[in-house]
Amino acid sequence: MEEKHREGLMEEKRLFFPPAGFSSNAVIQNPEIYELGQDRTKFWGEQGKRLDWFKPWDKVLEWDRPFAKWYAGGKINAAYNCLDRHLNGARRNKAALIFEGELGDRRVLTYQDLHREVSQFANVLKSYGVEKGDRVTIYMPMIPETVIAMLACARIGAPHIVVFGGFSYEALRDRVLDAQAKVIVTSDGSYRRGNIIPLKENVDQALRTVTCVEKVIVVQRTGQPVEMQEERDVWYHEVIKNVSLVSPAEHMDADDMLFILYTSGTTGKPKGIVHTVGGYMVGVSTTHEWVFDLKDEDVYWCTADVGWITGHSYLVYGPLSNGATILMYEGAPDYPEKDRYWEIVEKYKVTILYTAPTAIRTFMKWGESYPLGRDLSSLRLLGSVGEPINPDAWMWYHKHIGEERCPIVDTWWQTETGMIMMTPVPGITPLKAGSCTIPFPGVHIDIVSPLGNAVPKGESGYLVVRGPWPAMLKTIYGDDKRYEDTYWRQFEGVYFTGDEAKWDDDGYFWVIGRVDDVINVSGHRIGTAEVESALVDHPLVAEAACVGRTHEVKGQAVFAFVSLKEGILIHDELIAELKAHVVLKIGALARPDDIFLTDELPKTRSGKIMRRLLKDIAEGRAMGDTSTLADAAVIDFLKKNINIEK
Ligand code: WTA
Repeated sequence: MEEKHREGLMEEKRLFFPPAGFSSNAVIQNPEIYELGQDRTKFWGEQGKRLDWFKPWDKVLEWDRPFAKWYAGGKINAAYNCLDRHLNGARRNKAALIFEGELGDRRVLTYQDLHREVSQFANVLKSYGVEKGDRVTIYMPMIPETVIAMLACARIGAPHIVVFGGFSYEALRDRVLDAQAKVIVTSDGSYRRGNIIPLKENVDQALRTVTCVEKVIVVQRTGQPVEMQEERDVWYHEVIKNVSLVSPAEHMDADDMLFILYTSGTTGKPKGIVHTVGGYMVGVSTTHEWVFDLKDEDVYWCTADVGWITGHSYLVYGPLSNGATILMYEGAPDYPEKDRYWEIVEKYKVTILYTAPTAIRTFMKWGESYPLGRDLSSLRLLGSVGEPINPDAWMWYHKHIGEERCPIVDTWWQTETGMIMMTPVPGITPLKAGSCTIPFPGVHIDIVSPLGNAVPKGESGYLVVRGPWPAMLKTIYGDDKRYEDTYWRQFEGVYFTGDEAKWDDDGYFWVIGRVDDVINVSGHRIGTAEVESALVDHPLVAEAACVGRTHEVKGQAVFAFVSLKEGILIHDELIAELKAHVVLKIGALARPDDIFLTDELPKTRSGKIMRRLLKDIAEGRAMGDTSTLADAAVIDFLKKNINIEK
C-alpha cells in the first residue's frame, strides 16, 4: 500500500466540491475561519466559550515550551459538559447513546438516562474510596457501561485508563502497574463473532502479582461463569442498586488530568499519554462539530473501539459534549453477515459514519453487493481515520457508501494530539481522494527536512506541529523527560509527529506513514520493539527483529525475523508457537503475519541490526546500500529463502 499510495499521490489531481445544498446548510460556511485560526490564542479563546465553565480561565494559554497550560485558572468538568448542560432544554429526552449488541440486542439511553447512570456509578466509585486523582482502569467490551464508567470517572476527577479489550492479560497488567490503578472496571466476557473473550479471567491473571488494585467491578454481559474473589470483586448490577442519583461534578482545574491512554512508541514500553480536561474538551468539541458538520438531528456513528483515542475523542467526549446522538456497536462487521454495518446504517438511519481505511478495504474485498443490498440514503457525511487512505479506497467509499453524495473527511491526528489536526471542514474545503487536505483552523503544521527546514511545495519530509494546540498531550505519565525527548527534541522547538508527509502544489498534505519504529496494522499502532521483546521472551529465541510490510487490507503487517538459541531443533509447530507467544504477551493485534527463522540477522560491523535491509526483504524490493554489513552472506541467505506472497 505504501508504494501504491506514493504512486497515487503523484497522480491525484481531481478536486471534489461539496454537493449542492451541503455548503449552504453547513455549520461552517465561511472560509474566513482559516484566517481567524492564524491567531491561535484569540481563536481558541473564542472556542473555549462553547463549554460550560465553573470558573472562567484567567489566560487562554501559558506556554512554557514544551509544557502548555490551556485555559489556565479555569475550572471545568468533562462529564458535566457531556451530560448536565444538556438537561435543561429539549435535549433532556434526546437519545444520547443508541447501543446495538453483536447479538442484535438494543438499548437506548437518553441524556437524562445517561446522566442518572453516570451519577450513580460515580457514587459507587466514591464508595470504594476513589478520589480525585486516583486512577481507574477500564477493560471492557463496546457496551454502554464502558461509556458510563468513563464519564463517572471524569465526574469525580479520577483519570481513567481504558485498555482495549483485545489486549492480553500481560499487556493489561503492565498498564495497570504503570498507572498504579486502584480500581478496575471489567465485564465477565466480551462477544466477538459469536465467541466469548474472557475479560474477567484476563483481569484475574493480570492481578495475580499486582497489589495496587483494591476493587474489581464486573459488568455482566455474556453471563458465563466467572470466579469472584471475595472482598475484591463485585457485580456492577448489584452495587449500583439503590445508589443515590445525586453526584456533584468535581470542579477540576483545566489542567488536571482527564485520562491516560497507552500507545506504542519506539521502545518496548508503551507510553501513558496524559490528557487534561480543559484543552482536550475544547479541542474535541470544536473539531467534532465542525469536521462532522454536526446537526441536532444527526445519528452519528464512530466505529472505533473505545480502547483507542478515536473512541475517546469522537465516540465519547466530542459528540456528547455537543449533545449528539451516538451509535455504539459492539461487534464485528461480518457478524452474522458481511453487511452488518449497512444493516445498522439502514436500521438507525445513520447520517454520519466515521471509520477506518482498513475497514473500507475489507468492504472493497467483500464486494459492493453488501452495501447495495441496503438503504444507505440517510448517510450525508463520511469520515476516515487511522492510516493513509489510498485513493482507490477513497473512491470506493465515495461511490459505494457515499453514493457520490457524501463528502469524505479524511482526518489525520494521533493519540498524542487528542483531536483531529488535519482534515477538510466539509462545507468549505474541496477534497482530494487520498489527502487529509489542510490543517484545522488554529493548528499550525509543517513539513520539514532532516535539518528542520520547511520543505517547498511538491516535496516530502517530516511532519511537525508548530506551537501548542488545545487537546495536546500534557506529558507522558510519570516521565516529563521522555515526553520532551520523544516529541520536542528531533527538531528545535516543534512537535515531531513520527510521520512522513508530502505537500502538493495546492498546499494539500498527503501523509505517507510512520518513519519511526511503529507499524500501523489495521490502524493500530504496534511498536516493533514491543513485538521483538515479546519474541525474545520466548525461551528458544535468541534475537528478533520486526518490520512492517505492505498488506493489501491491513495497510501493514508485522514481519518478524527470528534467530533461535544455539542447538535448537526447528520443528513444525515452532512458528505457530512463537506467534502464540506474541498474542499472549501483547494481544492478537500484534500477531506477526510472517515469522522467518534465520541463523543470523544482518548487522553492521558495530552490531546494529540493519532494519532497513530487512524491510527491503520483507517488501520484496531491491536492496538499499549494503556496504556497512558485517557479513553479506546473511542477506543472500535471507533473500534466497524468503518467498513472500503479497
Ligand atoms: C496514522 C489515531 C494518514 C499516522 C487517530 C499517525 C493517519 C498515527 C491518519 C496515529 C490519516 C492516523 N491519514 N495517517 N487520516 N490518521 N494516521 O495514535 O501515522 O492510533 O501518526 O491515532 O496513525 O495513530 P493513533
